[in-house]
Amino acid sequence: MQIYKVGGAVRDRLLGKPVTDIDWVVVGATAEEMLANGFRPVGADFPVFLHPKSGEEYALARTERKSGRGYGGFTFHASPEVTLEEDLIRRDLTINAMAEDDQQNLTDPYHGQRDLEARLLRHVSPAFAEDPLRVLRVARFAARYAALGFTVAPETLGLMRELSESGELEALTAERSWKEISRALMEDQPQVFIEVLRDCGALKVLMPEVDALFGVPQPKAHHPEIDTGVHTLSVLEQSALHKQPLTVRWACLLHDLGKGLTPEEEWPRHIAHEHTGLKLIKTVNERFKAPKDCQELALLVGQYHTHGHRALELKPSTLLELLQSFDVYRRPQRFEEFISACEMDARGRKGLELRSYPQADYLRGAATAARSVAVQPLLEKGFKGPELGEAIKRERLKALKAYKEEAST
Ligand code: CTP
Repeated sequence: MQIYKVGGAVRDRLLGKPVTDIDWVVVGATAEEMLANGFRPVGADFPVFLHPKSGEEYALARTERKSGRGYGGFTFHASPEVTLEEDLIRRDLTINAMAEDDQQNLTDPYHGQRDLEARLLRHVSPAFAEDPLRVLRVARFAARYAALGFTVAPETLGLMRELSESGELEALTAERSWKEISRALMEDQPQVFIEVLRDCGALKVLMPEVDALFGVPQPKAHHPEIDTGVHTLSVLEQSALHKQPLTVRWACLLHDLGKGLTPEEEWPRHIAHEHTGLKLIKTVNERFKAPKDCQELALLVGQYHTHGHRALELKPSTLLELLQSFDVYRRPQRFEEFISACEMDARGRKGLELRSYPQADYLRGAATAARSVAVQPLLEKGFKGPELGEAIKRERLKALKAYKEEAST
């Protein structure tokens, strides 16, 4: 049997990037031989094994044939006769379809190296269409390598468009899609992921609520970029520039969905978009089964981001309601993430990227003031049950009034 390093490990070594995961392909072996050599099978059907010591993935060279819709619809053909070239041709991109032996000799039948130099994400063959998840993968690679100058080859974008229009994307499971989306959002230029999905018509299928924001105007005074879709991309871009966690990036992407529902005759104003957007945010959250912390923050940011921007003008009672809604006493980190998302929203506007955001410190100060109310003295005064709750609220309100007064002097 011959063993080759394949996929991302070869690509990233040639790009001079750190290699974290190594995938191997084994040519000329049977599953029985692998088991006899101590490899552990990954699943019942997949010809993939884990190395007994390193735990790295070793896949038997295989050809794939599509037999139905979605991920379950694959049949694998793995046998010792399948050649390295036959295995590589069914992979997604030419830059991912190179193999290397233990002497670092490169096998590159589909010109991956040429495309690396040309900075092109190009599909290897029509077999690309076997797995619709590849539409998301290509958009994710575009986001990751945008800084190096990579773009999607026009013919690949065309194929992605065909796949998007074919209805195949609907067959993807929430889990597989979310894995790609969450990884793409954590790349350096996540806005490129959304742009590429939009360019090939996949955004309309995967997140029509985000797609609908393009072409929707906002008031120029607050939004020099005008277009709500463009604004959303800038907010996402800011969130990556500021190294925000996934929760914040997800909230940034979804914060303005309500603007897509505003009747045209009300444009460019979007009265109550914070409320109209909530059901859309919920739908998108559920469609991808986003983790609970991402779901929660997206909903809270959707509902309260304008409160964040108006923080300095809010009445102490409104400020208190905001802090209560975030349960800032038990969940301080979540409030901090809310503040970050508001700041990204304020900076994701054309020409305003470097503006200061005094609301952030003001909100932090308000949270500290409300948190500083001690419960013990109220217990000692004999308050209990709902009365205790009311007494704590009154004290917090007092603290916030004092805080607001002090801040305005
Ligand atoms: N692959 C593919 N189609 C997919 C998934 C994977 O063709 N839907 C192939 C590609 O050749 C890829 C290799 O399997 O390079 C390994 O896949 P994976 O580990 O998911 O990705 P990497 O390319 O290693 O990229 P990353 O750095 O994102 O992990």
